[in-house]
Amino acid sequence: MADGGGIRRDRGTLKGGVGASVPHDSAAKHVAGEAVYIDDIPELPGTLHVAPHLSVHAHARVLSVDVSAARAAPGVRAVITAADVPGDIDIGPVFPGDPVLADGLVQFHGQPIAAVAADTLKQARAAAKLVRVEYEPLPAVLTAEEALEKRFFVSPSLTMRRGAPEAALATAPHRMTGTMEMGGQDHFYLEGMIAYAQPREDGDLLVFSSTQHPSEVQHLIARCLGLADHAVTVEVRRMGGGFGGKETQPAQIACIASILAAKTHRPVKFRLDRDDDMIMTGKRHDFFVRYDVGHDADGRILALDMDLAGRCGFSPDLSNAIVDRAMFHADNGYFLPHAEVRGHRCKTHTVSNTAFRGFGGPQGMVAIEHLVDRIARTLGRDPLDVRKANLYGRDGVRDVTHYGMTVEDNVLPEMLDELERSSDYRARRRAIDDFNRGSPVLKRGVALTPVKFGISFTATHLNQAGALVLVYQDGTVQLNHGGTEMGQGVYVKVAQVVAETFQIDLDRIRITATNTGKVPNTSPTAASSGTDLNGMAARDGAMQIRNRLTHFLAERFGTAPDAVAFKDNKVRVGDQVMAFEDVTRMAYMARISLSATGFYRTPKIWWDRSAAHGRPFYYFAYGAAATEAEIDTLTGEYRFLRADVLHDVGHSINPAIDIGQIEGGFVQGIGWLTMEELWWDAGGRLRTHAPSTYKIPTARDVPADLRVSLFANVNREDTIHRSKAVGEPPLMLGISVWLALRDAVAAVADHRVVPDLDAPATPERVLMACEDLRARMAG
Ligand code: MTE
Ligand code: HPA
Ligand code: MOS
Repeated sequence: MADGGGIRRDRGTLKGGVGASVPHDSAAKHVAGEAVYIDDIPELPGTLHVAPHLSVHAHARVLSVDVSAARAAPGVRAVITAADVPGDIDIGPVFPGDPVLADGLVQFHGQPIAAVAADTLKQARAAAKLVRVEYEPLPAVLTAEEALEKRFFVSPSLTMRRGAPEAALATAPHRMTGTMEMGGQDHFYLEGMIAYAQPREDGDLLVFSSTQHPSEVQHLIARCLGLADHAVTVEVRRMGGGFGGKETQPAQIACIASILAAKTHRPVKFRLDRDDDMIMTGKRHDFFVRYDVGHDADGRILALDMDLAGRCGFSPDLSNAIVDRAMFHADNGYFLPHAEVRGHRCKTHTVSNTAFRGFGGPQGMVAIEHLVDRIARTLGRDPLDVRKANLYGRDGVRDVTHYGMTVEDNVLPEMLDELERSSDYRARRRAIDDFNRGSPVLKRGVALTPVKFGISFTATHLNQAGALVLVYQDGTVQLNHGGTEMGQGVYVKVAQVVAETFQIDLDRIRITATNTGKVPNTSPTAASSGTDLNGMAARDGAMQIRNRLTHFLAERFGTAPDAVAFKDNKVRVGDQVMAFEDVTRMAYMARISLSATGFYRTPKIWWDRSAAHGRPFYYFAYGAAATEAEIDTLTGEYRFLRADVLHDVGHSINPAIDIGQIEGGFVQGIGWLTMEELWWDAGGRLRTHAPSTYKIPTARDVPADLRVSLFANVNREDTIHRSKAVGEPPLMLGISVWLALRDAVAAVADHRVVPDLDAPATPERVLMACEDLRARMAG
């Protein structure tokens, strides 16, 4: 049994317990088109549809808004502006700054100013165009670099510091300074933002929202309508992807639908089409990085001074925590003996950027990996050797981060060795060099990079979860918890935990939609912690019921409680063996409660932000990837020939789901660092707001030969069945793809010059980097 967090080795005849590679609970429904998303919920009679009217300036005073023509248009039932918000207009999730509808000032091109509800979507869209707005344009700041220059921030900068970097830089035998940039990323979830608000009795609202954070949507709807929290219920069965994009920003869509529902007393649906979704909602923060690094002749970093400047857009949203997480990951897996890392939250007149898989962590890692790559190339050494030389050590040796946390669970030295061997890195490096010598146009490159990602919300209070476990007389279970399903498999993994706890087959457990009326005050499903937190809460609830059954049976049969054992759909009491459902029926007749709420909070973590010191993470998840790429140096086009991934998920609750997360995360990381490019024009207008101009990876972009393995490991911390979070960390394996491209570009100059290739490494950028190297070689 695995109750104490140990590992269950004897799987018995139980179907779908912990460790079983059962398919996603909705896999068949996903492919058959039968899974119900919010837009598929049968519409109530009288349902209205919403279209927004968006700003056409990046920064402007709004002098007047005239909605009379829109209001008079066919089918229109209501038009609202900021003046029609009954309660608090500000729906900022952590800090103020996000008006439901722009109030006197627009701060990005595409900010909603008014919303129209009409009988049909077509009528709503036609009427939204009739809203007349008078603007007084104001100067706009559009880039992080410009905002950093002007010290124009959405919140104050933070510094993390260890040792004496100034002195260590001054005495370092090698020193270099530089800057780099990396782009943002659109979430491109397949299901766009949507909310469906239904008025109920007494002014109450039931709102279906495509959100990772139903509790926050509930609270913000209540606040903007001037209602109590108990008057609003938010439900979500599943999202068609969230990727962080639905951590905070669905609230705006849900609030607009709710205001219109309250005003018209009608059900109101607000679904963004792809273009509006890309224009109106925040993305991954692009970053501008400045560094000063000192190192020795082996490439070991001796001192680092770094500025990480994230483009936040017009409001704080989650940017404080996101830039913090970038700073926390500015070491990736490397020991920085002396370091000062400063994080800046740059304010720009663009959409408010938000959570995206990795939550700033990937940006911090790209910065340090760029640096390590540059150090290695400058010294003419294999980047893998420089990476290994910089890895954290153990047991008091080079194991403390720049924010004061000791890295206790480091497995990167073994992982890199194992992947170096299994990917045949050295032999392939030589083969690539041979290939490049004989190939003037096509060049190949390889890179092997590590990932170390901190698991826990850095806002400590969010590391809690609740669950509701209901056992029926027939021995079946309804399971509810705060986790939301966005395709990642949290529902099935938590259900497996409950199946394991009761020792009943997985098909006896019905997973029910996340609903604020069942479990209150939940945290967002984010920070990869969905299964860690909700799995523990659900197990707590299930254990309470199991313990009640144990004591009931012990009393009934006159045995000690430890003579009662649950195993493989049966319950043994002494030498009696009963079916689980016989026990639940008996317990019901004896008036034993068969429901429980479970709760969990993560132990050990603390973070003193004012001192920039603490243990923000319960543990780290690790991974490594080795990628080989081939570029065409005359066109910049490329392909990925092979990628070997080794990833640490601890003791996996569901290896099939975890491997799916690793593959999906890796490919999403490839997209971010190679082909996905957001482009705003000089007026601050996003020009890449559809797949026609924004290229996401497809099946053809997946490395032709992709080999994913799970690293044999057990979480040394007492997590749910000793598993590790898997949602975000694999995204950062994509860094190996970007650096493999850099390596291939460097081959143009026979690795004698350091190439200049920031992210995303689009074919255009690869071509320019090749041209630049050729010019530098010629000059
Ligand atoms: N996987 C799928 N299929 N769809 C998603 O939207 N979101 C990612 C990751 N994997 C996502 C996904 C992000 S950003 C996070 S934080 C985690 O899943 C959230 O779920 P978890 O905490 O249950 O892992
Ligand atoms: N990760 C993801 N989401 C979050 C975090 C975090 O650390 N903090 C607040 N929301
Ligand atoms: Mo994930 S970015 O923490 O939703």
